[in-house]
Amino acid sequence: MLAIIGGSGLTRLSSLDVSHREVVRTPYGEPSGPLTFGNICGQPAIFLARHGYGHTIPPHEVNYRANLWALKAKKATAIISVASVGSIRADLHPGDLVLPDQIIDYTWGRHSTFHEGPGCTVTHVDFTHPYERPLVEQILQAAQGVGEAVKDGAVYAATQGPRLETAAEINRLERDGADVVGMTGMPEAVLARELHLPYAAINVVVNYGAGRGDSAEAIHFESVTQVLQEAMVRVRRVVERLVCNYAATHSQEGAGQ
Ligand code: HPA
Repeated sequence: MLAIIGGSGLTRLSSLDVSHREVVRTPYGEPSGPLTFGNICGQPAIFLARHGYGHTIPPHEVNYRANLWALKAKKATAIISVASVGSIRADLHPGDLVLPDQIIDYTWGRHSTFHEGPGCTVTHVDFTHPYERPLVEQILQAAQGVGEAVKDGAVYAATQGPRLETAAEINRLERDGADVVGMTGMPEAVLARELHLPYAAINVVVNYGAGRGDSAEAIHFESVTQVLQEAMVRVRRVVERLVCNYAATHSQEGAGQ
């Protein structure tokens, strides 16, 4: 069963025929909100709004461990992250949908592992390829199926936020090899890996990075919101098709859950 973690602009999945909501308690505290269970074209899926259903939890205060642990506990078998980003690479523009294939982590002070605390054995997970390629390919297939263009491959820079970057920071991220910048991709991706949950992301470009394009002087959030709303209509279409296809190809896995 696929789980979708929705970011800014995606606090619910309108096509999800909701069966119930469940508050899940975890050893790491509370997830961002109750998990929403339902069906899309008759196939089961779980939805969770990363920033809470009222969009009140900033990126650095999201309880990523509780979110991932809760989804795993409720039998999610893969995670699709939807998150907005700023563009650094010249060919990425507001409104574009991007499937990242790499991460550079600049966050700090977040709980970024399950392998800590009393009694834990030291564990180093492989994270060479942070996004699960077969899952990315299923997103590509779903996008193609509904006629939505997506760009395959980008290096995602995860910054701490909640403030946006300076122009010099965006230049530095570019020199580091980053193509897009967002605040929530880590530690979410690595926690999914630690739980052996295949993870892939759909990034929605909502603005040019600070100092670039129409963000040369400042990033204006009114236009960001508009781009976000328009793009999320397309993201929903892709996600809906993905859930239908995913369940169809994983019917054994979904059985009895
Ligand atoms: N920087 C960081 N995170 C973001 C941005 C940005 O410009 N846009 C959307 N999320």
